Amino acid sequence: MTVPGDKSISHRAVMLAAIAEGQSEIRNWLAAGDTEATLGAMRDLGARIERDDANSLTIHGGGLRESERPLNLMNAGTGIRLLAGIMAGQDFPSVLDGSAQLRRRPMKRITDPLTLMGADIASNDGAPPLRIRPAALRGISYEMPVASAQVKSAILLAGLFADSPTTVIQPGPARDHTERMLRSLGVDVCQGGVDGNRITLAPKERLAPLNMTVPGDVSSAAFLLAAGLLTPDSDLTIRGVNLNPTRTGIIDALGEMGADITISNLDEQAGEPIGDIRARTSQLKGIEIGGETVVRMIDEFPILMVAALRAGGETLVRDAKELRVKETDRIAVMAGELRKLGAEIEERQDGFRILGPQTLTGAKVDGHDDHRIAMSLTVAGLIAAEGALVADAACANDSFPGFAEALISCGARMILS
Ligand code: S3P
Repeated sequence: MTVPGDKSISHRAVMLAAIAEGQSEIRNWLAAGDTEATLGAMRDLGARIERDDANSLTIHGGGLRESERPLNLMNAGTGIRLLAGIMAGQDFPSVLDGSAQLRRRPMKRITDPLTLMGADIASNDGAPPLRIRPAALRGISYEMPVASAQVKSAILLAGLFADSPTTVIQPGPARDHTERMLRSLGVDVCQGGVDGNRITLAPKERLAPLNMTVPGDVSSAAFLLAAGLLTPDSDLTIRGVNLNPTRTGIIDALGEMGADITISNLDEQAGEPIGDIRARTSQLKGIEIGGETVVRMIDEFPILMVAALRAGGETLVRDAKELRVKETDRIAVMAGELRKLGAEIEERQDGFRILGPQTLTGAKVDGHDDHRIAMSLTVAGLIAAEGALVADAACANDSFPGFAEALISCGARMILS
């Protein structure tokens, strides 16, 4: 099977193509709730975007203009934070807003460094809406308090419009798609310091157009891999998945848990390593996860929690308090929903502890308008003795349209209503 295009890259592709000069072509673009919100915002900003089909975009870049209305990023944290970096450098004002869920997410992490660069940004007490007015930007050197690719990217994107180079120092290896893509568009981005965690970008307002095929999203693949590992007699292969090392912590963690996962057909696409991932039913064992691995699998903890319930022994996750400020508080929400299915989970401020293997019963659970919660609970339902009724399962569409259908196509017994 295949999975839809990478969400992180799809957000970045549509933003960068809109500010680049000339005509960009993007194939296998992710047409999902979050990325469509970003595409809509770029259209409101004057970008001309043609769609040959849902996943193939031709974008005529070359200058944005003021939007007549607030930009609505819906549930997209990546959308609002990265776009704020771009908007800070424009010579017209903008208002960036989104859903009730997005309005609860912390923005000080980007408004602080952007303000240091000279940006004029007002927020609603550290949350959206963000009101940005034109201002001259200067390059800064900024040590990020959290290992966040969204914060890093917002600063680097603003740095394109600054008067001098911008440096960010990240505490850990946050995904590096922005750096890779900017380099391919002719921007001078260099990496140095300890473990390459110091990134310096030279300003450049005129970017070359983008021509890329977006690789499959490893974060989407993770749900199918887990379903394959945890259900009996499974053997599934997902082709063309992004294997960027800043994203593959989940594959390493599952491997350490004893998962039968093999990688083949290694190749490169859009400046990213890709390959096929094969997963077969496995008896897992518990492990400890902390430090850098956490950053490299930050979106995969909801599904890791489900896998840990079936693993023998103790699984202990620490250094993961960022999970509490994602679309939902993913530690509390996952623990709460899985308890309805009979799970015992010890919540910790910065992670969780699970003693397995545990048997799940059956219950009605809720996706809480958080795509990764909904998909994780769906996989939990597949291994629950009496199944699960997943309410709000459709919010999976924010990153993985066709998720339920994909599971059904490889044999999952599910009814969609
Ligand atoms: C993303 C970065 C991560 C991740 C999110 C996508 C990105 O967020 O959780 O789903 O595309 O840059 P943080 O950078 O806030 O950790």
